[in-house]
Amino acid sequence: MIISKEVFGKTADGISVDLYTLTNANGVKTRITNYGGIVVSLEVADREGKIDDVVLGYNSLAEYIKDSPYFGAVVGRCGNRIAKGRFTLDGVEYKLAVNNGENHLHGGLKGFDKVVWEAEEVETPEGVGLKLSYLSKDGEEGYPGNLRCVVTYTLTNDNELKINYEAETDKATPINLTHHSYFNLAGEGNGDILGHELMLNADSYTPVDEGLIPTGEIKSVKDSPIDFTEPAAIGSRISQVEGGYDHNYVLNRDNEDLLSLAARVYEQGSGRVMEVYTTEPGVQFYSGNFLDGSLAGKSGEAYGKHYGFCLETQHFPDSPNKANFPSVILNPGEKYSHITVYKFATR
Ligand code: BGC
Repeated sequence: MIISKEVFGKTADGISVDLYTLTNANGVKTRITNYGGIVVSLEVADREGKIDDVVLGYNSLAEYIKDSPYFGAVVGRCGNRIAKGRFTLDGVEYKLAVNNGENHLHGGLKGFDKVVWEAEEVETPEGVGLKLSYLSKDGEEGYPGNLRCVVTYTLTNDNELKINYEAETDKATPINLTHHSYFNLAGEGNGDILGHELMLNADSYTPVDEGLIPTGEIKSVKDSPIDFTEPAAIGSRISQVEGGYDHNYVLNRDNEDLLSLAARVYEQGSGRVMEVYTTEPGVQFYSGNFLDGSLAGKSGEAYGKHYGFCLETQHFPDSPNKANFPSVILNPGEKYSHITVYKFATR
């Protein structure tokens, strides 16, 4: 197990940013930067032992700063959309930064994906890690309260990328942190993900309106192209889903506090399997619908439509405005704590 550090570049306001390389006992390697907590690369073996980088991204910090659809980033203070960037908490209406049509998306104009985190290298019996800390000040992007966040990535010797999210606040605030890697188990830049076989452990989802805001309904996936309770190729019914998959699934869970299986993805060519476990009640399955070939990634290949998919574990979108969804409110004195694991194997 090793962890090493190099300079990745500087932000526009001159803050130096680093790139950390974490290697586990089996040679699985990930590079993570403290700019946005971005997972820049994740190298895992296929069934023959051949290594590929299975996440989309860039080679340089400048490219991430210039234009990135949240490649590999920590997303916060609230992932996904909040309708019209407004919500009322304890009788006070808050107005958030609006950055997606009339809505608030992924934390606003300068979300947690665009800030520099303090980094500390950690070694635990289970693997090597990087502990990232960030203080989001009262009023940032319109949110109430000083929110202290700690996100720890651990690369375990069981070939898992484990993410621990922790936070505390001094005023009640919504919080919904997630991770935005775009995966391609055949290797980044290596075509689309439509042939990947996906299983989602979810019997229902939260339908949305034209602006991708949940209607509030929790609907069964049964007899619809949204259903992935049985493994199916991502592309097998995608033409029946307007715009492609960009849905929040309501996960089947036995125990609310423990990690449970959210998803399993298999790519036949490489034999790679990725399983996702989480303590969260939902997962956004996004099939890279807005990738359009205008961005070229690490290997120089343009990332076309569906060249990567995201599985963003989360509370449901627009929760601050939906009383029937599990609450995203963190109060002073409480501890926010969630875990998500992306586990790699081959078949
Ligand atoms: C959302 C998409 C959004 C994308 C941004 C996903 O998490 O669900 O609607 O366009 O992030 O890259």
